[in-house]
Amino acid sequence: MFDFRPAPDCPKPEAYRQLIEAADALTGGEPDPVANMANVAALLWDFLPDLNWSGFYRVIDSQLVLGPFVGRPACIRIPLGTGVCGTAASEGRSQLVEDVHAFPGHIACDSVTNSELVVPVIHEGAVIAVIDLDSPTRARFDAEDQAGIEELARVLGPRI
Ligand code: SME
Repeated sequence: MFDFRPAPDCPKPEAYRQLIEAADALTGGEPDPVANMANVAALLWDFLPDLNWSGFYRVIDSQLVLGPFVGRPACIRIPLGTGVCGTAASEGRSQLVEDVHAFPGHIACDSVTNSELVVPVIHEGAVIAVIDLDSPTRARFDAEDQAGIEELARVLGPRI
């Protein structure tokens, strides 16, 4: 049994340190990218409160294609440059969106989503995927969340 959840009163930077340690332990030595993304999607869901979706989109043939996730069924293909995920992938920069309804071109896969954090995963200089987190709470994510997920993306780059 794996139980990696942090204590409820754990400060955010410490929770992210534990999350990255757990992700490293789960994916280190496992060569299958789908297995690694599936476990990390579940780990994010377990670790982070107040999410309604956690998962991956992969860059395939100049599109984003749905990868392993936890949450409700989602849009399968997103053109690069479109929506929050496509913007993060095409610009190679994280998108921290306090209010998705104010983001031009936001793709509403689930009407309960109000805020979103999307972080690109870069390997050998190219964006190969994005990590997408959605929350029903407006401004759920902050700079500490962004820094934590960016560090996670660095660990995952060679493993997915
Ligand atoms: N909202 C995203 C689409 C993916 S879902 O949130 C799972 C976007 O605008 O790119």
